[in-house]
Amino acid sequence: EPPATEPRPRGGVRGSTRAAIAARHLRTDRWWLAPAGTAAGLLAFVVYSTWRAFADTHYYAAPYVSPFYSPCLAERCRPMHAGPNGDLFGSWWGISPAIIILIFPLGFRLTCYYYRKAYYRGFWASPPACAVAEPHATYTGETRFPLILQNLHRYFFYAALLVAAVLTYDTVLAFRDEHYGWGHMGLGSLVFLANIALIWAYTLSCHSCRHIVGGKLRHFSKHPVRYRAWRFVGRLNARHMQLAWASLVSVALADFYVYLLASGVFDDPRFF
Ligand code: FES
Repeated sequence: EPPATEPRPRGGVRGSTRAAIAARHLRTDRWWLAPAGTAAGLLAFVVYSTWRAFADTHYYAAPYVSPFYSPCLAERCRPMHAGPNGDLFGSWWGISPAIIILIFPLGFRLTCYYYRKAYYRGFWASPPACAVAEPHATYTGETRFPLILQNLHRYFFYAALLVAAVLTYDTVLAFRDEHYGWGHMGLGSLVFLANIALIWAYTLSCHSCRHIVGGKLRHFSKHPVRYRAWRFVGRLNARHMQLAWASLVSVALADFYVYLLASGVFDDPRFF
């Protein structure tokens, strides 16, 4: 405990209005495990997705298009069936077309309430865990630039709905063979199906979605449909963290599956 004569800083956990506890924390469990595991998991995804987003190759293996590259807006995507096939950006876009589209799911996840908690703890130690003092001397929350931009989350949610719709379209096309038409089913079709189910579950479990669906109502009894929708979203919302991770893994796996097919590592096992 600092001597009573020593002035204490005004802000932060060592501030004069906080309990004067010298120890950084009093926890005896392995509290660092969760933030360390979170940071490792997020870092692995960032490394993988950066490699794939900039690779600009092996993102299409008929009938599958990588979720990182859909809808593909640059001209060199034309051989692919999904999306506007390059008409929007034409040939002037020089770098990987994934960059254009990844801004939206990336913005959605970066501003997500769960991911905010995860990376504030994992990377900024702000705070590292419950009841563990953060090392920073001051705390301004999300009231200033750039963190005030976290308020854009609702708009990223609207964009994420469009992205999920595009990936749904891709999943439908994953059941069509380019030569024989509908009725195709390969292992990739199932990978895509699992991924889109998790993407929708994560997107609809969003806190903003829950507010859009059931917020600003005085009487649920007068809005039975919204009440039922809100209950449904609420149940998903309770699993938001799990869905955030499951869909992060599934989207990377779906992309990696397309990469393996497109680079000729193996052929898609077909059931029909
Ligand atoms: Fe996590 Fe909206 S709060 S996606």
